Amino acid sequence: MSNSLFDQVQSIQQDIANTSLDNLEALEAFRIKLLGSKNILKPLFAEIRNIEPARRKEFGLLINEVKSQAEEKYQALQKELAGVQQDQHTIDVTAPGEPVYPGARHPIAITLNRIIEIFAKIGFNVAYDREIEDDWHNFTSMNTPEDHPARDMQDTFYLKDSSQYLLRTHTSSVQSRVMTKTQPPIRIIAPGRVFRNETISARSHCQFHQVEGLYVDKGVSFKDMKQTLYYYAQEQYGKDVKIRLRPSFFPFTEPSAEMDVYWGLNNEHDYRITKGTGWLEILGCGMVDPNVLESCGIDSEKYTGFAFGMGIERQAMLKYKISDIRYLFENDVRFLNQFTSAL
Ligand code: DAH
Repeated sequence: MSNSLFDQVQSIQQDIANTSLDNLEALEAFRIKLLGSKNILKPLFAEIRNIEPARRKEFGLLINEVKSQAEEKYQALQKELAGVQQDQHTIDVTAPGEPVYPGARHPIAITLNRIIEIFAKIGFNVAYDREIEDDWHNFTSMNTPEDHPARDMQDTFYLKDSSQYLLRTHTSSVQSRVMTKTQPPIRIIAPGRVFRNETISARSHCQFHQVEGLYVDKGVSFKDMKQTLYYYAQEQYGKDVKIRLRPSFFPFTEPSAEMDVYWGLNNEHDYRITKGTGWLEILGCGMVDPNVLESCGIDSEKYTGFAFGMGIERQAMLKYKISDIRYLFENDVRFLNQFTSAL
């Protein structure tokens, strides 16, 4: 009786030593058979008490040893199989290479980089700031107090349950971020994303990009502003560009203007985008309102400044003849790949 139990355990021991496998299912079967909750050693452990006392210890040692061997073997097999699978993955030198696609710059990034480059040449630094802004920096400090009708012009996304925090509606908020931290001379442009609760269509989106400009120093005049913006237009649209400033209104500038560039009326498309005038509006600008300077802790008796804000999408769409603003936000690679070689 006990001899046959010894035989059974030894035969299992032999099987373990002889096992070799080549797939994961077989490995799992091995585990269930020898290490699972109903493994074949279990009933043999239960037999210990039936072994004659003189050989009980010997049997106990044997069966425990076999159990450890099963565990070791399982781990060894596991490693071996993982190795095989890895080899299969890395060693096939005949497999064709993975194609490498060059990245493409986004048309917004290309246009923005060009704008930064143009202003960097005349000494403007780039300032970045937050997209989640507070009411004060976005509106109040920009001379747009609560109940000011101009707040309705920019349908604002407020953060949930907050009348204080919002997604900035324009990059003008960076003006107050910079002016509350720095005394003049200040000469910055501030590019970034802005948000307005607008219905999405071919011409408008609820998110878009702007570049803000701000120059504050002693004796900065309207003439300086006009010259700076003319320089910009020439760099961006060519030396022969024609510009005009039309009187306008913004709460944070006085006087305020909008700048148009002459686009021409050469075809039907030109008629449509310029509404038959030949002129295209590209930015808003003006002399920084003294109230804005004072709100931000800058002495308006001593300093004056000009500011401007322009949209980037509009300019990118003109430059690349993109007919629908939504293409710029959909990240369709068929669209984006067309810009592979640009800048
Ligand atoms: N913040 C204005 C807008 O989003 C654009 C603007 C106009 C910015 C005049 C300025 C400015 O700095 O002086 O429509």
